[in-house]
Amino acid sequence: MLDNSKWISALSEFGTVCPIFRKTFDVKKEILYAELKITAIGCYVAHINGKRVGSFILAPGWTAYHSRLQVQEYDVTGLLGEENVLDIEAGDGWHLGRLGWLKGKPSGSGPSVIFELEVKCKDNTALRIVSDESAMVSKSPRLFSSLYDGEIFDSRIEEFNWEPVRVIEYSKDTLIPQEGEDVVEVERLSPVAITKSKTGYVLDFGQNLTGYVEFAVNAPSGHVVELYHGEILDKSGDVYTDNLRSALQRIQLIANGKKTTYKPQFSFQGFRYVRVVNWIGEPDPNDFTAIVVHSNMKRTGYFSCSNEKVNKLFQNIIWGQKGNFLDVPTDCPQRDERLGWTGDAQIFIKAATYNFDVERFFSKWLSDLSVEQFEDGGVPAVIPNILGRDNSSSSAWGDAAVICPWQIYLAYGNKEILKRQYDSMCKWINYIKNQGDNPYIWNTGHHFGDWLGLDASYGSYVGATDTALIATAYFAYSTSILVKVGRVLGYDTTEYERLYDNVRKAFQDAFIKGGRLTSDTQTAYALVIFFDLVDDLATFGERLNTLVKENGNKLTTGFVGTPYLLHALSKTGYHETAYSLLLQEEFPSWLYSVNQGATTIWEHWDGVDDEEKLWSTDMNSFNHYAYGAVADWMYEVMAGIKINESRPAFENIIFEPITDKRIDYVSASVETKNGIVSSSWKRMGKTVTYTFNVPRGSTGTVNLNGQIYNLESGEHIFTVDE
Ligand code: BGC
Repeated sequence: MLDNSKWISALSEFGTVCPIFRKTFDVKKEILYAELKITAIGCYVAHINGKRVGSFILAPGWTAYHSRLQVQEYDVTGLLGEENVLDIEAGDGWHLGRLGWLKGKPSGSGPSVIFELEVKCKDNTALRIVSDESAMVSKSPRLFSSLYDGEIFDSRIEEFNWEPVRVIEYSKDTLIPQEGEDVVEVERLSPVAITKSKTGYVLDFGQNLTGYVEFAVNAPSGHVVELYHGEILDKSGDVYTDNLRSALQRIQLIANGKKTTYKPQFSFQGFRYVRVVNWIGEPDPNDFTAIVVHSNMKRTGYFSCSNEKVNKLFQNIIWGQKGNFLDVPTDCPQRDERLGWTGDAQIFIKAATYNFDVERFFSKWLSDLSVEQFEDGGVPAVIPNILGRDNSSSSAWGDAAVICPWQIYLAYGNKEILKRQYDSMCKWINYIKNQGDNPYIWNTGHHFGDWLGLDASYGSYVGATDTALIATAYFAYSTSILVKVGRVLGYDTTEYERLYDNVRKAFQDAFIKGGRLTSDTQTAYALVIFFDLVDDLATFGERLNTLVKENGNKLTTGFVGTPYLLHALSKTGYHETAYSLLLQEEFPSWLYSVNQGATTIWEHWDGVDDEEKLWSTDMNSFNHYAYGAVADWMYEVMAGIKINESRPAFENIIFEPITDKRIDYVSASVETKNGIVSSSWKRMGKTVTYTFNVPRGSTGTVNLNGQIYNLESGEHIFTVDE
């Protein structure tokens, strides 16, 4: 790809910031079609004759660059004239900028671009304009740009000094066509309030979001306006930024004496509030707009019920997904992290597939997972892997290699992804088998465990559940999925069936003593029930129910236990307890954060405690989607919309809603490949009326209090005594 083009960079020192490359060319003939193929080491924005090419923010996106660098193709027919100017500004982005909590910028080299513009003329001739020595480069007004730290923009720089470019040697072997969704500007929000603080003004956009602020400044030349972004306010009413760690999230605009509108180009921020410093006069709300930026995923899932707080929780989950699906599934969008943590992704993926169409999004990320997987089958904790070898291959994190492709298959019927990822899945399972002396128990190595579980010992992030129990449980679970994948693909699964039986048996021998789990924790029971690791589900369900009840209908679970807790209770018949956990408003609970005014999902159950004290600054994100995994219980149990694994992509929908006296109605829908699936129920006195919609091409199977009904496509209404 791009065979005739050369990688170009800047010679001068300014080239390490945001160089602008320019190529001028004439097209004297009538144009039939013109296409620009382009990518960068760094990020780029291209303009032709002053008009933006495409709408991709932070193109070319984030991949495992050593093996895969996406090339975008844009139809630019409408942008060309007789005399043309192609300008490409480039910045560090993920490729060259600093990532993670390691502070320094990794390399001193500046961004480079490569492109080819092909113009097909009506007379059947073609013109090819490529990046080479003939391009020019200049310093841009963007004096500084970093994903985490923001930008410095000097609007006084309006003249460009064009210099020759430098052609650099860099491989083209890694170039691939665009695989993921474009990242785009999706929504625009105005401030809902502007207040004065000790250090300036505070804008409140009413919603914690990911993106940036577009604003207009009219100030004397040389005057510097600053914007600082944060998720919450401190006690004095100013913007709190301590939880950003080293990420500055700061914008500095140097005015030029004229009204200037600006928005960051190679940076994004996680924020609800913005501190505006050095503003001249009173800020006018019309001069500020928050622009929400995320991967261009289609919204597919909706949920509402009679409890407004639960509805707010659901909205927060949606915003958590928007905020963290920015080209890769990240943990959070604000602090010096924003990484593709595998654990967070696998925990949330089921909810993610209901809420939005994430097939392409995950397909790209899973390709990166495959190429980042270590030789021995270990899976890095973050994809793309910027952490190296050490911090790797924790159970429940690495299991993303198996769980994510399986969920994409279930939701979208995508067999290709199973085929493509099959080797990676096997490598992961074999990796686990090779750890330690016992091939069926995983009790070695580093694990994140039940990360942030509330039963952790003082000062630890790892919950009380034995990490070997978690690791072996996941080992069995992932192996069981691998067997199903093998069956779907028509492969011989005998080896993995045997492995599964052995791991399950070894799990029982090692971690069940006297009818109880060796870790008597909510997380441990949730896992064994959800993963089907015991024969006597009833006994274990009863124990889980007791643990929750004895804890005052409150959870103690962290990242590993939380996604399964309600499902495990429902699976063993303790629906009422599951509902109690969802409806719990005291700390710790989902609705606790809603009562505290959350507009996204918090990383910690006690991000802010009852006395308004904040969790330590080293890890306190207010936009972490992991606990939002509860949305899949809302769809699957409250509304009762389930995928039948043997007929994926909602070809057969299992409707099994479970009502609760504290809720009067529930309504949910998912847009599937065949159309909209919906389920709702409403209580009228002593009866409940259920309405199910089955799209054309699908069938439904209803289970209402043990009565089974088979449905064809169309709307179906049932009224049943409660
Ligand atoms: C991230 C998590 C991640 C974890 C690994 C954190 O710093 O924010 O969400 O999964 O590290 O334990």
